[in-house]
Amino acid sequence: MHARTITTVGRPSTRISTGEGVKRSFPLSRVYGLLEPGPVVLVTTARKGRANIMTMSWHTMIDFEPPIVGCVISDRSMTFDLLKATKECVINIPTVELAAAVVGCGNSSGRSVDKFRAFRLTPATALRVGPPLIADCYANLECRVVDTRMTARYNLFILEVLKAWIDPSRKRPKTIHHLGRGAFMVAGRTILLPSKMR
Ligand SMILES: Cc1cc2nc3c(=O)[nH]c(=O)nc-3n(C[C@H](O)[C@H](O)[C@H](O)COP(=O)(O)O)c2cc1C
Repeated sequence: MHARTITTVGRPSTRISTGEGVKRSFPLSRVYGLLEPGPVVLVTTARKGRANIMTMSWHTMIDFEPPIVGCVISDRSMTFDLLKATKECVINIPTVELAAAVVGCGNSSGRSVDKFRAFRLTPATALRVGPPLIADCYANLECRVVDTRMTARYNLFILEVLKAWIDPSRKRPKTIHHLGRGAFMVAGRTILLPSKMR
């Protein structure tokens, strides 16, 4: 394949001609919406019998088995404090029917709101960790923190999934994916292609 010559058009750094058309510059502050990493999830944490829920979209798979997941959780959130102290959480995967609750849990803090009550979500006892599952969600991953070496610098927690649950009655769960600035993509068509990735 031949490398294409890229020439800037007009004011440098605002547009480039790629040979396949013109591309415009995109703000760095919005790049996260291009690299959306997966479904928006609800993280439950708990301490002293009180449970909290936080909406999260900055998470990534790190290893297959045991499943290891990296999560960026702001140190201004209550979830950060609870996760740091207890080292346990549940990653709950909601579907589009719960979209209003997802946004609500992301726009309020457990410091002043009981989110289970406010957003009418149902707690259920987990098997391996203290925080509750959200019964209304399609899937639930019980996790423990296994590495905090990058927490101080990047607010990054490394989690191991100890136990996973899914609702077998839902064959095509319509998860939601954050594109930034209040825009969400709803999971759609599944296509099957030959792939070496297991
Ligand atoms: C769609 C969406 C995605 C979000 N993703 C994250 C995230 O990945 N990490 C994070 O720290 N906060 C994220 N937030 C913001 C938190 O959910 C928000 O700060 C919340 O109020 C924290 O709640 P808490 O104080 O009860 O823990 C997101 C919010 C929304 C609406």
